[in-house]
Amino acid sequence: MDDEPNIREALAEYLTSLNNHSLTTAASGPEALDKFQPGKFDCAFLDLKMPGMTGVELLAQLKEKDKTLPVVIMTGFPSLDAAIDTMRQGASDFLVKPFNLDQVKATLERVVREHRLLQENLRLSERLKHQERIERLNQELSRRVREQQVLHQISESIDHMHTSEAIYQGIADLSATNLEAGKASVLLLDPVSGQLVVIAVFGFPPEAVGQVAGKLGQGLFGKAAAGGKPVMGRLETPEEGGGLLAVSGSLLCLPIMIHEQPLGLLVLGEKRGGLPFRGEDVFLSRFLLQKAALSVENIALYESMASNLHSTLGALVRAMEAKDPYTRQHSRRVTNLAVMTAEAMGLEAHQIESLKFAGYLHDIGKIGIKDHILLKESKLTPAEYQEIKRHPAIGESIVRAMDLSQDERHIVRHHHERWDGKGYPDRLQGKEIPLLARLVAVADAYDAMTSDRSYRALRSMPQAVKELKECAGSQFDPAVVEGFLQMLENCHWEIPLSTPPDSSQDTSS
Ligand SMILES: [Fe+2]
Repeated sequence: MDDEPNIREALAEYLTSLNNHSLTTAASGPEALDKFQPGKFDCAFLDLKMPGMTGVELLAQLKEKDKTLPVVIMTGFPSLDAAIDTMRQGASDFLVKPFNLDQVKATLERVVREHRLLQENLRLSERLKHQERIERLNQELSRRVREQQVLHQISESIDHMHTSEAIYQGIADLSATNLEAGKASVLLLDPVSGQLVVIAVFGFPPEAVGQVAGKLGQGLFGKAAAGGKPVMGRLETPEEGGGLLAVSGSLLCLPIMIHEQPLGLLVLGEKRGGLPFRGEDVFLSRFLLQKAALSVENIALYESMASNLHSTLGALVRAMEAKDPYTRQHSRRVTNLAVMTAEAMGLEAHQIESLKFAGYLHDIGKIGIKDHILLKESKLTPAEYQEIKRHPAIGESIVRAMDLSQDERHIVRHHHERWDGKGYPDRLQGKEIPLLARLVAVADAYDAMTSDRSYRALRSMPQAVKELKECAGSQFDPAVVEGFLQMLENCHWEIPLSTPPDSSQDTSS
C-alpha cells in the first residue's frame, strides 16, 4: 500500500509478474483494512507516511487481525527511531525508497518463506497442544476408571460382609488400603456416655480395640465426629488418642453419620510417602462410609426382623406346649440333645445354628391339631393317629412363609421320617432324609421315651438307649444313633438344659 499511485502501480506490476502472485492495492490505511482478509495474504508492503493513518498504525491493526502476516515497511525518509518502532510493532523488513526491484523480490521471497515456516510452526504447535489435551483427557479418563474400579471393589467387598463387626473392620482395612494410609481406626459413639470407642483398627495393635479415643465434641476426634465434616491436617506430635492409638504426620478424620446423626469417626493417618491426604481421598472414604452405613443399617433392620420372627415363633411353640403338660420344654430338650449330637459328630457351624433355631420349632405344626386328639390321655385310634401325623406338614406350612433356610424347613417337615422309609409325611428313606431331620428324629424319640407321657410308661435312660440301638438301621440312621451315644458318653449322661430362643417370656419351667 502506498499513497503514491506511480509507486503503487509499478510495484503492483512487478509483484504480479513474480510467480503469478495475486495482488491487492490500497491508497490509504482505511482502504487497506477494508480489503484485508486474514489468511488470504502472504505479505503486505506499507508506506510509512500516508494521510489519515500512518504505516505503523496500519501495521498494528493488520497484526491484530493476523499475527503471522509479514509486513514490509517502505519509506523514503528512514530514521533509526522509525525503523526500531516498526520492527517493535512486528514489521518483518524495511525497504528504503528508492529501492530496486531485485531488493523487493529478495525481501518478498524471504518474508514469504518465513511466513510459511511460521504458519507451519503454528500448525505444529496447535497439533502439539491438541495432543497434550488428548493426553490430559486420557490421564483423567484413566484416573476415573481406576476410581470406578476402586468404588466397585469397595461395594463388592461390603456387600459380602454380613455382620456389623465385619463391616467396621472392612471400613478400616479398605480405607487404609485404597488411600495408602499406614493406620486407620474406626471409632463408634456410645450414645449414653458420649465416648468414642475404638471398634476396628488397621496398623494399630489389636489391643487398641475397645479403648476410649475421645469424647463427642471434645478434642480433635470428638470435634471432628460432632462437626459432621471431614477434617484434614497434619499432626507434628502424636497427641490425639495417645498410647495405642498414636498417629503422627498426615491425618484425615471422617465422621460416620446415619440420618445426619453422628455414629462415629473414621481416622486415617500416615499416608504413604509422608504425603498429605487430598480431596479425592475424602471422596473415596466418604463413598465407603455411606455404603457401609447403609449396610450396617440394613443388618440392624434384618436382625430386628429376625429377632421379631424368633419371638413370634417362640411364642407359638410355648402356646402349643402350654396346652400339653407332658410336652412342656420338650422342644427345648430335643433341640439341646440334637445340637450336642451334632457337635459330637463334628457338623458345621451353620448346621448347628439351623438346629438351634429349627429344632425348637420342629413340632410347631401341633398348633393345628385339635386339642381333644393332642391332649388325649388314652391310646390314639388309627384315625386320630392319622390326624397327629399331619403336624410336620402343617408345621412346614407355618414356617414356609418365613425367612427360614431349606435345612431349617426340612427339620420341621421331615423329623418323623424313618431310615427304612416307613415314616411320614413323605416316606423318605436313608440319606434321602435331610441329615438334620435324622438328628432331630433320634433326639425327639429319646426325649419322648425318657419323659413322663400319659399313655405309656416312662423309660429309664439305659432302656431308652437300648431301644435306640435296636432301632438303628430301621427307624434311625445308625451313624446318628452312634453320634447320639457318643454325645451321652461325652457328657456322662448328664444333659444340661440349654436356653431356648427368646426364653425371657418362657414361664413354663
Ligand atoms: Fe413331632
